Amino acid sequence: MKRRSGIRIMGGLLKLLAPLLHVMLLCITLGTLGYLCAIFINILAAHLLLGVTGESPWRLSFGGAAAVMILIAVARAGLRYAEQTCGHYIAFKLLAVIRDRVFGALRRLAPARLEGKGRGDLIAVITGDIELLEVFYAHTIAPVCIAIIVSLIMTLLIGSFHPLLGVLAAGCYVLVGVAVPLITAKMGRAYGMEARAKLGGLNNVFLESLRGIREVLQFGQGQKKEEEIREKTEKLNEVQGGIRRHEGAASAWSGALVMLLPLVMLGLVIRLQVGFSAAVMTTVMLAASFGPALALANLSAAMDSTLAAGERVLSLLEEEPETPDVVNGEKPDFAGAEVKNLSFSYDEEEVLHDLSAVFRPGEIVAVTGRSGSGKSTLLKLLMRFWRAPENTVKLSGLDVGRIDTLHLRTLESYMTQDTDLFNVSIRDNIRIGKQDATDEEVEEAARKASIHDFILTLPRGYDTKTGELGETLSGGERQRIGLARAFLHGAPLLLLDEPTSNLDSLNEGVILKALREEAQASGRTVVLVSHRASTLGVANRAYAIESGRLS
Ligand SMILES: Nc1ncnc2c1ncn2[C@@H]1O[C@H](COP(=O)(O)OP(=O)(O)OP(=O)(O)O)[C@@H](O)[C@H]1O
Ligand SMILES: [Mg+2]
Repeated sequence: MKRRSGIRIMGGLLKLLAPLLHVMLLCITLGTLGYLCAIFINILAAHLLLGVTGESPWRLSFGGAAAVMILIAVARAGLRYAEQTCGHYIAFKLLAVIRDRVFGALRRLAPARLEGKGRGDLIAVITGDIELLEVFYAHTIAPVCIAIIVSLIMTLLIGSFHPLLGVLAAGCYVLVGVAVPLITAKMGRAYGMEARAKLGGLNNVFLESLRGIREVLQFGQGQKKEEEIREKTEKLNEVQGGIRRHEGAASAWSGALVMLLPLVMLGLVIRLQVGFSAAVMTTVMLAASFGPALALANLSAAMDSTLAAGERVLSLLEEEPETPDVVNGEKPDFAGAEVKNLSFSYDEEEVLHDLSAVFRPGEIVAVTGRSGSGKSTLLKLLMRFWRAPENTVKLSGLDVGRIDTLHLRTLESYMTQDTDLFNVSIRDNIRIGKQDATDEEVEEAARKASIHDFILTLPRGYDTKTGELGETLSGGERQRIGLARAFLHGAPLLLLDEPTSNLDSLNEGVILKALREEAQASGRTVVLVSHRASTLGVANRAYAIESGRLS
């Protein structure tokens, strides 16, 4: 992952804010007015005291001043509430937008770019990181703007007593609101990145252990996994402890500065001999106006994690898919497929070497080869999940890269080695193959896939939710549901990756018969990856991939 600077991360996050700019401006205005109210209460109090000694130019009665102060205090509370409401409104609106875009990005990147990513990492982005950005949108942008505006106004006000006092005030705000936060954020940023990475790693181990719980138990790996998780948790705790210590030190530093700086101001006013009343007023003004700058200092601690989260979310949004969707591409009817002199490698090592094969309409073509020889890779290239060199993979005589993606999906059905089921009814699980299929069509497809009779034995037949069955569906049953999907999809090219590997010969026989009928009756082309001699028997021709080559 490329690292970018904090400013660039914020720039990237701010771009997403554009549609809600007007709410943000309102939020900043409300916040600025709120802080000015808080400062003005102190100024009023100082005047009241100076009035007692006859030093204030304002003639204030105690009762009048108290009433105004109460009014301002109430206004301050109201303004603060309204500012917070605006901030959260923006944050949650934007989080919804970002979630949507992250999901869009995952869809774009799938499946090729997601193959190398741990699911734990992705879950950390989708849940934790996006949530953390709330801090940026609700509690960062507005405070920064408010701090700048309020500090500017106060610099001018204090400067009106003497320009040097104004310069000193500006210096104080920059020190508390910019220098300290920047230094502490820089020191703490690595912690933030590390904590997120460690959390992702921990999630990965958890998910892995849950998914592979059978293997863990079978091979007595329970204790080892437990230790691994404990070790990772301890490391995460260490990093998080570092963040907390860092936060503590940062707020101690800024707290001390806020105490000391008014003393410096007092020293300067005494030197400049601006008079008693001006001395009191400027010192009170400075002491009372650190609120917005201090908010930035406190924010810097949270910024570490927020920037790290922003970096990960933006990287995901900006990642280029392996095969971008082709819109407005060619939309040919299916007239056979072909690979020609196809060589392909995921990384450095070549998986397929100079492969050539044709798949004519109505043919069942078997592809065999030892495990790891590249059979699934060949199917993925035909699906255009990965990018093959130009003109090496063709459909209807056209390079797959030129065919409209949505159209390509209607031309091809792909069934992988494992079928994923969603927690909806069996009927809807099969219907994924064709959204508008009638119940009759769904049942017809289930019959061809030899799963209809089994479904009828379920408590609520086709309406049984897969969640109600827990993990009880057998590998073969899942596989047949996957096949029913592929049959229902009705694409002219069926790419089947070991479709009958988990089935007994009876069910396999039914399916192979259905495949033969599909090929003969509706002219479907079937590419069948399999090792089994029984499956190969149904094929018109067979290719064997030997060390990346066809024979
Ligand atoms: N996303 C990927 N990135 C890098 N290498 C990969 C990727 N997917 C597969 N490979 C590698 O490519 C080679 C071919 O894999 P492929 O899945 O096509 O084999 P296969 O013939 O289908 O094997 P099997 O019969 O076990 O399913 C293997 O060495 C595999 O490790
Ligand atoms: Mg395979």
